[in-house]
Amino acid sequence: MRKILFTLISTLVFMTAFSQSATKIALIPLPASLVVNEKQPGFNLTAATVLVVPDNAEVKKAVALFAQQIETPTGYKLKTISGNKALPKSILFSLSNDASIPDDGYKLKTAAAGITLTAKNPAGIFYGIQTLLQLLPADIVSKSKSTLKSWPIPAVAIEDYPRFGWRGLMLDVTRHFFTVDQVKDYIDQMVKYKFNMLHLHLVDDQGWRIEIKSLPKLTEVGAWRVPRVGRFGTFLKPQPGEKATYGGFYTHEDIKELVRYAADRYINILPEIDIPGHSLAALASYPDLSCTPDNYYVSPGDPFMIWPGGGQHFYGVIDNTLCPANEKVYVFLDKVFTEVAQLFPFAYIHMGGDETARNFWEKNEQIKELMKKENLKDLDEVQSYFVKRVEKIISSKGKRMIGWDEILQGGLAENAAVMSWRGMKGGIDAAKMGHEVVMSPTDFVYIDYMQGDACIEPPVYASLRLKKTYQFEPLPDGVDPKFIKGGQANLWTEQVYNMRHAEYMTWPRAFAVAEALWSKKENRDWNSFVPRVEAQFERFNKAEIKYAPSMYDPIINVSKIDSNTVKVKLETEVDGLSIYYSFDNSFPDNFYPAYKEAITVPNEASTMKMITYRNNKPIGRMMTITVDELRKRVGLK
Ligand code: ACM
Repeated sequence: MRKILFTLISTLVFMTAFSQSATKIALIPLPASLVVNEKQPGFNLTAATVLVVPDNAEVKKAVALFAQQIETPTGYKLKTISGNKALPKSILFSLSNDASIPDDGYKLKTAAAGITLTAKNPAGIFYGIQTLLQLLPADIVSKSKSTLKSWPIPAVAIEDYPRFGWRGLMLDVTRHFFTVDQVKDYIDQMVKYKFNMLHLHLVDDQGWRIEIKSLPKLTEVGAWRVPRVGRFGTFLKPQPGEKATYGGFYTHEDIKELVRYAADRYINILPEIDIPGHSLAALASYPDLSCTPDNYYVSPGDPFMIWPGGGQHFYGVIDNTLCPANEKVYVFLDKVFTEVAQLFPFAYIHMGGDETARNFWEKNEQIKELMKKENLKDLDEVQSYFVKRVEKIISSKGKRMIGWDEILQGGLAENAAVMSWRGMKGGIDAAKMGHEVVMSPTDFVYIDYMQGDACIEPPVYASLRLKKTYQFEPLPDGVDPKFIKGGQANLWTEQVYNMRHAEYMTWPRAFAVAEALWSKKENRDWNSFVPRVEAQFERFNKAEIKYAPSMYDPIINVSKIDSNTVKVKLETEVDGLSIYYSFDNSFPDNFYPAYKEAITVPNEASTMKMITYRNNKPIGRMMTITVDELRKRVGLK
């Protein structure tokens, strides 16, 4: 019986239906439509499967990548032949002008007799291949030969296409440097979920990460800082005589290699040169670019900027800005953007523009003169003057400028696109003025934030749970969709020292982002998302990629009963979990009290411990929170 399944509830149905026979169908992101032929046997990939490809170099490349990817786990060296007709038990890849297939979309039909994957363009073929890979058993992502004897693919018909054209992740390679191979691994992970944009944050106070041949000090000096480990923002500044040994940068050859690697996988790389704030690495290299030239150093994460109250207000302890009143700055930027524009084929260059601490500008004579000369009435207009000049430089290199939403302050440069991070408002305002927008709001897609309770997660100053990320909706009501290019999640790496932890912070939240950006809004549903996430976890285990299990850990809500006593209410993001707890310092298991309703915390207790179970098996992590901390959260001593 053919069954048409559009909704997520139905996704659960077919997951169960296939769990015994073939691979669970647990696609992320959800396709636009999916028909499962439940009674049909499906396709079996064997060493004899033939790949039939059209005479198109890009499709050939995409199919060659597919063949290469499956060779290790299966041991099969599949034969590829040129052609436009299916052979018995073949996989036929074809390009078509079929008007019912949108750009970058595809149609995938799998049956015992063979598979056909049809698309309008090679990108569509590539995305269809990613879906096909998710239809194969989880072992398909193994890094070594699998012991599986067969490779079944359930019988399905899928029609699919992206909702947004900009589906991104940002990786901050400044606070910690990631090698070319590590970035390639990150790209490999992204493509499985149909992301098409890698935004590289290349320049910040903690390092300049891209070779600029005409400005060699940027990487001789700016790419290196003194090593520190622990909690970013608390570190000692460089001590007298201490060597700057920690860091790294990408040479032109490295960038070309990355761009090529990404392009082969339908990923654009967006380079970001974050100015005029966040510029200590540039100033350590060329101090004359400051309004207040000094002995600058690349910051190791010392408290060089202060956020009183932790919110949007901040000021620089050190002047970490390029001077908008100094003509040398524009000569410098012309050189930088000349090389950046040559290296990155993508149409946009990101100029940052966020969090410019202007307290040093306020008192500066050069700035005062600039304000007089250019008739600028306040520092917003000074900042806007700078942004507009940068926009002209970037345009002169044949590129379009994008910047964080602070570029709206004091007046937005003509033609500039806006990346909205301080909520959606900047993006909404920019779209209403007819500017292109990429939505990247802190409250939904800042994946540097903790994804569970602070008592168990590596500390960061804010939290963002998976369920909240899943609510990310890039297109606000009342905004013309043609201005919303899409969205992205941002991984800032102040507290991310290595790729394993980058993976932990990225997944599973980036699954939620992928679905928000690719899938139809009406198909999205949290309850079907969770089991699909769990199916991807199984793949991540096989692929040896780290992910956060935080969605299984309890959410702790504390409230005051009276001036001395607190109450704890526990919840879980995922349904069907039991929580067991203790106050006696021992480790609870499923023989301990099960959480049923809000608990009064015994005043004499020193810790509360808790753990979640599913079907009598532990699934969450052992969490310990001190009673002092619980009390502190509601203002009790
Ligand atoms: C930002 O998070 N400062 C763009």
